[in-house]
Amino acid sequence: MSDALQKARDYEAAHLPEIPAAVLPVYHVTGGVGWINDPNGFSRYQGEYHLFYQYHPYSKQWGPMHWGHVKSKDLIRWERLPAAMAPDTEADRDGCFSGSAIELEDGRHALIYTGVRKFSDTDEVQTQCLAFGDGVNYEKYEGNPVIDGSLLPEGGSRRDFRDPKIWREGDSFFAVAGDRAADGTGTILLFESKDLIHWEFRSVVAASKGRYGRMWECPDLFRLDGNHVLITSPQEMVESGLDFIEGNSTLCLIGTLNPYTLALSEEWLQTIDYGLDFYAPQTMLTEDGRRVMIGWMQYWGSVDAAPEELPFFGQMTVPRELRVKNGRLIQNPVRELERYRRNRKRMECELITDETSLPGISGRCLDLTLTLRGDYRSFRLCAVKDSEHETVIRYDRKWSTITVDRLKSGFAPEIRNVRSFRVQERGGLLKLRLLLDRYSLELFVNDGEQAASFTVYTPQSAGDITFAAEGTAVLDVDFYELEVSEDGKAL
Ligand code: FRU
Repeated sequence: MSDALQKARDYEAAHLPEIPAAVLPVYHVTGGVGWINDPNGFSRYQGEYHLFYQYHPYSKQWGPMHWGHVKSKDLIRWERLPAAMAPDTEADRDGCFSGSAIELEDGRHALIYTGVRKFSDTDEVQTQCLAFGDGVNYEKYEGNPVIDGSLLPEGGSRRDFRDPKIWREGDSFFAVAGDRAADGTGTILLFESKDLIHWEFRSVVAASKGRYGRMWECPDLFRLDGNHVLITSPQEMVESGLDFIEGNSTLCLIGTLNPYTLALSEEWLQTIDYGLDFYAPQTMLTEDGRRVMIGWMQYWGSVDAAPEELPFFGQMTVPRELRVKNGRLIQNPVRELERYRRNRKRMECELITDETSLPGISGRCLDLTLTLRGDYRSFRLCAVKDSEHETVIRYDRKWSTITVDRLKSGFAPEIRNVRSFRVQERGGLLKLRLLLDRYSLELFVNDGEQAASFTVYTPQSAGDITFAAEGTAVLDVDFYELEVSEDGKAL
């Protein structure tokens, strides 16, 4: 093992045991110590789910990128494993950037990732590299890199060439990676290999051409419900309508991959998540064929705003099952979460007017579904609330919008704290499912038609939930506490 990886593992061994479970999220992955960003290598290996992530163990700031590592049997309870990679070879000496993983027929777990080499502040080269391992320890391939700038189409960028996502089809491996075209805007490139070592460029799957941000990071391409789906995370997005958030945003293109040109037709296009904290999602297939996505629950624009006292920075979303229906991406929390539901409370036809709480409906780690109907103009749910704090979810019927306002949720007012998005009632009903954990709130509208993720850093004692309406809303409530481990130990 290299000195750099040994140092990271020693650091983890010295510091992780000191971190009380009570300061970590209960069912959302963090690094435990240090900084994390993008999910990487989300894959099934030897019957378990593995998740790696961009990781700087030594501080709560982004730094030379390592890969941290956790695994799980059910995508909810995660076991921490030692850091998997450190920047320690010539090809990745300045960082092991994002990438993906695949189980090989010979029993090895292969990681494909971006190796970064910097020559000056403005001169940097990114190439795609391999490592092979057994689910705990990984060896970098000595012939790295395996995909370098020589394979790029004309005008491609050697500097912004990253985040390979791998899959197998027939007797070939395929990988998509983000790059910049000659005009400086994002392209998604497809490569093919028979042996993981020798790769060929196959096609430009999609290109920004100046629309939807510039560089497109962290692509993933998969088949779902008879469509091809490309997800990617554009940088420098310009806010347009209520769909795309400014800066680092997310984009989903749904269409068909032309079998001859291997370019994606863009039939439908949307943002992936309507919250303030969601980036760089990646997917994998479960054993029973579900396409599951996990994202970094964070906005690059507010990385300096998290509270000082926490030992970690950055968390993942809950893993979400994906479907495509009527040209839209549908996302719902993985069904495994339901095993951790406790203390159900159901209420039907509660009439909501002035602000009120409902008996037993409170807490910070919960799964709450509301069905709304009746004669009302707007409805307001306040959660993670005490006398000074709250996160407000407001539905305005006239405008068909939901607005989430976390101005009083533990953040400084200077960062972006409010986001609105459009929703549609179904037969006069609106269904909202809210997942809370110690530092997050994820909202799913109408059985996954929209998802919206937010970090919140309200004190843990702020567990009140209230409801209010203009007019009279008729509310059905289905409430559960989430209890993730019997011994009360969170990851
Ligand atoms: C996206 C990203 C990736 C890159 C990684 C570096 O958040 O910029 O493109 O591989 O983060 O940490």
